[in-house]
Amino acid sequence: MTERFGGYQNEIYLQGLGGTKPLFSTNPTLLEDSAAKVLESEPFWYVAGGAGAMATVRANREAFDRWKIVPRMLTDATERELATTVLGTPMPAPVLLAPVGVQSIVHADAERATARAAAALGVPMILSTAASTTIEDVAEASGDGPRWFQLYWPTDPDVCASILARAKKAGYRTLVVTLDTWTLAWRPCDLDQAYLPFLHGDGMAIPFSDPAFRALLDKTPEEDAPTAILRWIGMVTGTDKSWDRLSFLREHWDGPIVLKGIQHPDDARRAADAGMDGVVVSNHGGRQVDGALGSLDALPGVVHAVGDRLEVLFDSGVRTGADVLKALALGAKAVLIGRPYMYGLAHAGEDGVRHVLRSLLADLDLTLALSGHRSIAELSPASLVRS
Ligand code: FNR
Repeated sequence: MTERFGGYQNEIYLQGLGGTKPLFSTNPTLLEDSAAKVLESEPFWYVAGGAGAMATVRANREAFDRWKIVPRMLTDATERELATTVLGTPMPAPVLLAPVGVQSIVHADAERATARAAAALGVPMILSTAASTTIEDVAEASGDGPRWFQLYWPTDPDVCASILARAKKAGYRTLVVTLDTWTLAWRPCDLDQAYLPFLHGDGMAIPFSDPAFRALLDKTPEEDAPTAILRWIGMVTGTDKSWDRLSFLREHWDGPIVLKGIQHPDDARRAADAGMDGVVVSNHGGRQVDGALGSLDALPGVVHAVGDRLEVLFDSGVRTGADVLKALALGAKAVLIGRPYMYGLAHAGEDGVRHVLRSLLADLDLTLALSGHRSIAELSPASLVRS
């Protein structure tokens, strides 16, 4: 039977029998406000902000509010099974850490801290191409912890192949290809502060340490950082990608491939037709298309279209155990956590990420139990009503 994540509650209440207050709130919906107090304005808004008027950031939360859990009684949910396996990766609960770049802007320990916290709990971490730490250093920090790699797809095939080979060699198991950020959205929170972390050299660790990328430069990134930064940005933005070019990734990656940023059932079908293994129903946390639908509203249609052909994962707006439960009930195989762990990192580095994750898993475990489910496998649309 699964580890009792809900036990974190007892740990907090009972420590020394008088209890010990947690590092910071156990309520993830409060973390944004408290992160604003520990971060400078530029990095805070880079994390909290979204595209345009932030209508999609709000829509992501509103979509969760429209579904309600219907608790069932006397089901003997004393023992619960939360563990699952997604695309060959076993995990203690259907939760992964979403790829979030430039973690150095919120804490000096950056992705290493996240990797250690995730590995200690066995929660898979998805490393971003826009990380502030190299592929190899994060692998070392993560030790035996499960890890996946997220690709921002470079136009240069040699650079792309080189990055994929490094990730494979360093033990990243599944490739997550993000499709929704082929150019940066209009983001007033960042524009008003003229702040883009990449232009300060943050989030460049992977290309700057890549031999194929370095071979293209006349001067090394250490000698001429601005030219190297602009060269890289040019390489990961643009419209030259198409469905038929996914075969290139298949040739260079022998593990599972998941497309992230899918919102339309037809795109999910195309992913299946292209031989992909999974999709992440995601709108990048409302950071790309302002006015787009809440990601949870896109989930049932995608599950209906391809749920029997692909693993359907979900992100955008997941904050609480109830949110995870709702996404699973609507057919997601697992969910990705984004901003909340960045706020944990900002508050207290590795311990902060661990606290956020343990709080979320405890909340999920207890909500599953109290709503009468003994296992995540028992969740279905019948666990919910739409209000
Ligand atoms: C992201 N996200 C993201 N996605 C990705 O594929 N590669 C990346 O490098 C990043 N970077 C990134 C930075 C920051 C600061 C944020 C907040 C998000 C998107 C991320 O993986 C995920 O889709 C969203 O975070 C989900 O939304 P919520 O739940 O965090 O609101």
